[in-house]
Amino acid sequence: MNITASTAWKAIEAHRLSSSPVHLREMFARDPGRANSLSLSFDGILYDFSKQRVDSTTLQLLTALAHEARLEEWTQRMFGGERINASEDRAVLHVALRRANGPFPAGDLDVMPEVLATRQRMAAFADNIRSGNAFGFTGMPIRNVVNIGIGGSDLGPKMVGYALRSISHPALGVHYVSNLDGAQLAPLLQTLDPRTTLFLVASKTFTTQETMLNAQTARGWLVANLGDAAVGNHFAALTAKPQRAVEFGIREEAVFPLWDWVGGRFSLWSAVGLALMIAIGPHAFADLLAGAQRMDEHFLSTPYERNLPVVMALIGIWNTNFLGATSNAVLPYNESLKYFPSFLQQLEMESNGKAVGIDGQPLACASNPIVWGELGNNGQHAFFQLLHQGGRLVPCDFIAAVRSDYPLPGHQEALLANCFAQSAALAFGKTIDEARNELSRTMSPAALAELLPHKVFPGNQPSSTLLLSRLDPQTIGALVALYEHKVFVQGVIWGLNSFDQWGVELGKAVANSILPAIGDPALAEKLDTSTRQLLAFSRQHLA
Ligand code: F6P
Repeated sequence: MNITASTAWKAIEAHRLSSSPVHLREMFARDPGRANSLSLSFDGILYDFSKQRVDSTTLQLLTALAHEARLEEWTQRMFGGERINASEDRAVLHVALRRANGPFPAGDLDVMPEVLATRQRMAAFADNIRSGNAFGFTGMPIRNVVNIGIGGSDLGPKMVGYALRSISHPALGVHYVSNLDGAQLAPLLQTLDPRTTLFLVASKTFTTQETMLNAQTARGWLVANLGDAAVGNHFAALTAKPQRAVEFGIREEAVFPLWDWVGGRFSLWSAVGLALMIAIGPHAFADLLAGAQRMDEHFLSTPYERNLPVVMALIGIWNTNFLGATSNAVLPYNESLKYFPSFLQQLEMESNGKAVGIDGQPLACASNPIVWGELGNNGQHAFFQLLHQGGRLVPCDFIAAVRSDYPLPGHQEALLANCFAQSAALAFGKTIDEARNELSRTMSPAALAELLPHKVFPGNQPSSTLLLSRLDPQTIGALVALYEHKVFVQGVIWGLNSFDQWGVELGKAVANSILPAIGDPALAEKLDTSTRQLLAFSRQHLA
């Protein structure tokens, strides 16, 4: 289906063309109820999108687009366990992973018995470690856990683990290693005692180069210190390929399964969350799942005009496809959400960074914008200049939690003030008259004329603010599920498959062909001249 040919799409386009561009300053001046009418709240989350360049008509037209894209039908198909990931012939059932009980989905395919059994095994395993009753090969209790994984097998648990570190087990170290660069693993190993360290090899496929090499190196380190027989006590696996984990030397009882219907970037809720569960405990992990499930229910049952993921997705569509934005900045005003932008980069761009539709035809419109971001407060003193005066349209997601887990006097108030100030300044800017008035109090006319152009802020930069009452497990569960469903809704509207990732394959294949050529110049001969030059230089300096 070419969505751009739909009546709803054309109506939005006509609406955009007919309404003369109104500055956000003007929109707020005209409608005092705007902040309230263009906000939604749900379970301790306030979503204020009043600083987006939309009005109630825009929203109405956008929801018609969601209907025209048959979002209801696609949602039922996903929650019903249909194989909507067509290019991989898989169902998409990460929502089952947050359920407290079954059956789910209804019908022949009930995944809940396996999901619940695995969650129970994970909880027992985590509790054992947390209580000091999991022992290494020499009989000493496990004190450090290293999750070795990359992409979805790293970003989710690491992001939430950092967000919830205030409730993490105080005596356990939980570490994440993803990078092929030995500069991540080697210094970590120097700080660890092999007798008290457990490695979790997190890999859905159990073939990912980065993870397998890091796991082999960790295994080598352990064996060098404790001998071959120790591997069984110091390794566990989180994988959809249990046999490969057993071949690696991991005991069957330490292999925790996930399934082909869990996409890597949606796997936080599965066994891939084990390192996180060990850190925060099974109860807090259950709260995280409950928060996500609450968002699933909201998504399923709320009319689109008041449905957080749907509205968020539609605003993204408006900004990208009708206003022409090419990127979206994610700006957490919360140190604990430090890893949230990189988590979202995978979730959004690996899912919807595609230009071919589910029908194999080129898309008729742009799809996912470039997602980027950084802790907002740090960003203010780095790249915000471009947001304020760079002349580019960059929609922003501001995210803050009202209550801090680390309440130093005055800090939280100042942080929130900065967050709110930035979205206001980006939206409203400063006019030339306002700037002139300000400067004229202290400057001569000549100096003023010279400085004036630099002191004008165009404003009209759209943003939304997600204000969380606090960053507890439920809220962060809901936050992640919110973005997951946003991605799904956008994928449906763009008409693409959000659940495959063929685009990352080419680089992997090329890397495999280049690797042997690093050591053997003869193998480089068939490669392009630039790669040959890079290899020759590397060979010279590796020697
Ligand atoms: O390279 C992309 C990818 O397949 C991601 O989708 C996935 O999260 C990551 O690699 C890791 O894959 P695995 O869990 O199979 O090691």
